[in-house]
Amino acid sequence: MPRIVLLGPPGSGKGTQATAIARALGIPHLSTGDMLRAAAKAGTPLGLEADRYMRAGELVPDRVVLGLLADELHRPGGGNGFLLDGFPRTVPQAEALGRLVRIDRVLSFELPEERLVDRLTGRRSCPVCGSVYNLTTQPPKDPARCDRDGTPLVQRADDRPEAVRTRLAVYDAQTRPLLEYYRARGLLTPVDVQGSVDEVGARIANALRDVPRG
Ligand code: AP5
Repeated sequence: MPRIVLLGPPGSGKGTQATAIARALGIPHLSTGDMLRAAAKAGTPLGLEADRYMRAGELVPDRVVLGLLADELHRPGGGNGFLLDGFPRTVPQAEALGRLVRIDRVLSFELPEERLVDRLTGRRSCPVCGSVYNLTTQPPKDPARCDRDGTPLVQRADDRPEAVRTRLAVYDAQTRPLLEYYRARGLLTPVDVQGSVDEVGARIANALRDVPRG
């Protein structure tokens, strides 16, 4: 089964596209951001430690994220294929991942910074079903409630403007070097993620048409 990494700045649409890609390829979607938010919500010691970094827009220490992910990568049932969303984010994380498993393809989501800020500050999500909206680009029928279940929508703590600025700076300093890391290994495929969700989905499907499926 394919082993794919989604690499892209905050707000570039990784989460939005990940569900459809994972379903199409029959592989689990592993989002370290979702795992960390679940641990924070559950109030575990690891989650509470992670929450402080996440709220500020900083990266959670490598040892915490690696501890969470190592179990998931070896969980039975996915035929050992996976779609990683939000991991790796640093060169040490990429090196650790490379020691654990082989990677088939890294999709790099490309979007100008001003569009990232709009997508992040306008994002709202449903705390019950997890549906994600954008007040400008993917608005719910009622701006305050989820279309599916009517629950009041919430804004992620790290989508406040100060945290967004920090996240974009952290991406440039710590995650952008991974583009060269994976390009040098012949694994990087850039994808233009401007345009509608469906248009981007079609470009991704095209970029993955030759990925090994077996
Ligand atoms: P994480 O949850 O991974 O956040 P992120 O990478 O910052 O990415 P986002 O979830 O903000 O954006 P996205 O690219 O998924 O975009 P989305 O699809 O939602 O990480 C959060 C934090 O956890 C980190 O800051 C860090 O603290 C910690 N963390 C996680 N992994 C870590 C790691 N490996 N190491 C250390 N720390 C880690 O879309 C955004 C918006 O745009 C939505 O409103 C959506 O509706 C809209 N949208 C999407 N596509 C389109 C489109 N085509 N057109 C118009 N609007 C669109």
